[in-house]
Amino acid sequence: MRSHYCGHLSAEHIDQEVTLSGWVHRRRDHGGVIFVDLRDREGIAQIVFDPDNPEMFMQAERIRNEYVLQVKGKVRQRPDGTENPEMPTGQVEVMAQELVVLNSAQTPPFQLDDDDVSEEHRLRYRYIDLRRPEMQQRLILRAQITRYLRNYLDDEGFLDIETPILTKATPEGARDYLVPSRTHPGDFFALPQSPQLFKQLLMMSGMDRYYQITRCFRDEDLRADRQPEFTQLDIETSFLEEEQLMNIMEEMIRGVFARVLEEQLPNPFPRMTYAEAMNRYGSDKPDLRIDLELVEVADVLTDVDFKVFSGPAKDPNSRVTALRVPKGSELTRKQIDEYTKYVAIYGARGLAYIKVNEKALGREGLQSPIVKFIPDEALAVILDRTGAEDGDLIFFGADKAKVVNEALGALRVKVAQDMGLVNRGWQPLWVVDFPMFEYDDDAQRWTALHHPFTSPNTDDPQELLDNPGESLSRAYDMVLNGTELGGGSARIHSQAMQESVFQLLGISDEEARDKFGFLLEALKYGCPPHAGIAFGLDRLVMLMTGSSSIREVMAFPKTQSAACLLTSAPSAVSAAQLKELGIKKREVLSDKIADS
Ligand code: AMO
Ligand code: AMP
Repeated sequence: MRSHYCGHLSAEHIDQEVTLSGWVHRRRDHGGVIFVDLRDREGIAQIVFDPDNPEMFMQAERIRNEYVLQVKGKVRQRPDGTENPEMPTGQVEVMAQELVVLNSAQTPPFQLDDDDVSEEHRLRYRYIDLRRPEMQQRLILRAQITRYLRNYLDDEGFLDIETPILTKATPEGARDYLVPSRTHPGDFFALPQSPQLFKQLLMMSGMDRYYQITRCFRDEDLRADRQPEFTQLDIETSFLEEEQLMNIMEEMIRGVFARVLEEQLPNPFPRMTYAEAMNRYGSDKPDLRIDLELVEVADVLTDVDFKVFSGPAKDPNSRVTALRVPKGSELTRKQIDEYTKYVAIYGARGLAYIKVNEKALGREGLQSPIVKFIPDEALAVILDRTGAEDGDLIFFGADKAKVVNEALGALRVKVAQDMGLVNRGWQPLWVVDFPMFEYDDDAQRWTALHHPFTSPNTDDPQELLDNPGESLSRAYDMVLNGTELGGGSARIHSQAMQESVFQLLGISDEEARDKFGFLLEALKYGCPPHAGIAFGLDRLVMLMTGSSSIREVMAFPKTQSAACLLTSAPSAVSAAQLKELGIKKREVLSDKIADS
């Protein structure tokens, strides 16, 4: 029904007869001539209807936005002065010779070029929202990205293998989505949080190199970069050292940026240990576009007469850190109060600060509610270590290390965004040497930092059991501009080690057998050393398209409350369906469900 895409027309088509099909983007009546911007996936072309053909002209007068048209006509150069350099097709227009209205359209619920439409409205009418050129561009880019990734992995000898969606719970740390079984009344499938166990089994099956672009399901609190249903580029390999795997992955990410965006990423990506990332940035996914760093000042504050500082300064599980904000003394009281509220989200009980008005004046040149508690020598060390200049401000965080890291790590990013301190460009890095376990004070037990199949940095199960707090894992995360793009690890391939890890995590033999028995069994039948990784594809596309949320790069995303506004899912089902599944609905208020 077309000879060309609207968006492909250019001067080289002048004098050619073309047939275009698409949507009416805009219609303008200009003193007896009607102009229609006709839109398809590839762009917009200007069509001219002139009154010489009265029947067609009358039809053209009746068309409205979003009507679907087929137009035959001749391409011509636009008259002098009417070219539109903003449009790729802006040099030419099509003189219509035939018009077929393929379909009419009601007035759309919003104009495609209206930037002020609420996200709810956009999601409710997603098929119209997706007509907008920027949405089409994002999905086109997404397809280019996945095409590159597939080609790269195919060339590197990876096999694309599918794994089940109806399966058993996989331990990635989120809540499961469950699907009731009709044939096994009372039993449930879980949707996979990732294909982790299956891809390990594929290595045990001898597949050697596996990849899959696959959907994962996690019932967790949603954020801009989290959806309940999202896509991973999932990868697993046998007989590769993690170093080799990391190189292949790095090359892939450099390649996709070079090919799709013509952007050069560093070679190699810098590496940073988890400990260094936490110390300097308070985060295991530091945004290296921001130069600000957390500076340790506990050692000079142990004896100050200010408990907020001296307490944590003396406690080995706490931190006292300073964050220098260049030109921060311009911040008003109100702005500082707002930042104090912001860090409170992360559990910080306050946000002490010093404004450095004039260093040369000594403590007289400092403005702060807390300098009175800090002796001269300590102040001098703080100014020196932070590198503070006149006009700067220094924020302080003093609390348990976890609270300080989360609060000041987030503050670092927020302040940098607010004050225009985020440099342009791409800053990838690998974060390595993660601890194997973290102690959960509330639950009083060890938890795995990655999933429990991650190999520790030792082959000796006893060493791990003796010193769980000190042991590092063979995990690695790829971080880009402050977003965790992907994470993976070398896996445990010995049954003894796997059992020790379960033991440390407080997973009983019985529970392990019940949940992962098939994996433990498989470990006994000849398991190769293997390592893998999974990338969040939506996040990669979000970054590459400069979008603010992964919802902008998914065709049909869910809302913050994990609902689909287009289809109204989730929704009630019939009593008959429930009966068939052996399920009985309790009529309780939703807050009662939350309580129980
Ligand atoms: P992990 O849980 O780190 O590892 O997930 C891998 C990557 O998936 C992306 N991601 C998400 N993207 C959008 N919405 C979500 N809710 C979401 N959760 C995770 C992130 C993350 O880096 N099986 C392991 C991988 C492995 O060990 O090979 C796993 O799933 O970009
Ligand atoms: P207070 O003595 O509680 O009024 O606190 C004095 C200053 O220290 C205020 O600016 C508080 O915001 C700040 N403050 C209090 N607790 C902390 C903390 N845990 N970390 C950093 N600053 C704090």
